[in-house]
Amino acid sequence: MNTSPANTLPANFEIGIAELDTQHKRLHALLERLRDAVGKHYGYATNAILDELAIETRIHFAVEESLMRMLSFPAVETHVAEHLDLSRQLEKFRKRAQDFEVADELAAFIQQWLNDHVDRFDREFVDHFLRAGVNPTAASGQS
Ligand SMILES: [Fe+2]
Ligand SMILES: [Fe+2]
Repeated sequence: MNTSPANTLPANFEIGIAELDTQHKRLHALLERLRDAVGKHYGYATNAILDELAIETRIHFAVEESLMRMLSFPAVETHVAEHLDLSRQLEKFRKRAQDFEVADELAAFIQQWLNDHVDRFDREFVDHFLRAGVNPTAASGQS
């Protein structure tokens, strides 16, 4: 049974750079689907969503890390280490996803991690990116 608190999108989730906000919302939506699948003990769906989440996370982190490096953001290595930490947690999750009680806790943990990371770490580079000329409203149009 899913005993974790409801996973609504936090009010402060947007950082003000449209392309990255779109990616964050996509990750958040995937985590919602993951928690739903775990709560219903849908093993096949859980695995499929975890695969998708791993790919989307890798793409998102690569985009942020490329931008930070190209725009000479000073705290890039600390930020990259945080990304690596979440990637490791996700891999751990994938190995234990068949134990639904563990999986539910891990899904809640990862969702909390994402919310905290966006708020504490991603927010840090916004001013730097804007000063460097990043267009805050440019987006790929995918959702
Ligand atoms: Fe991010
Ligand atoms: Fe990040």
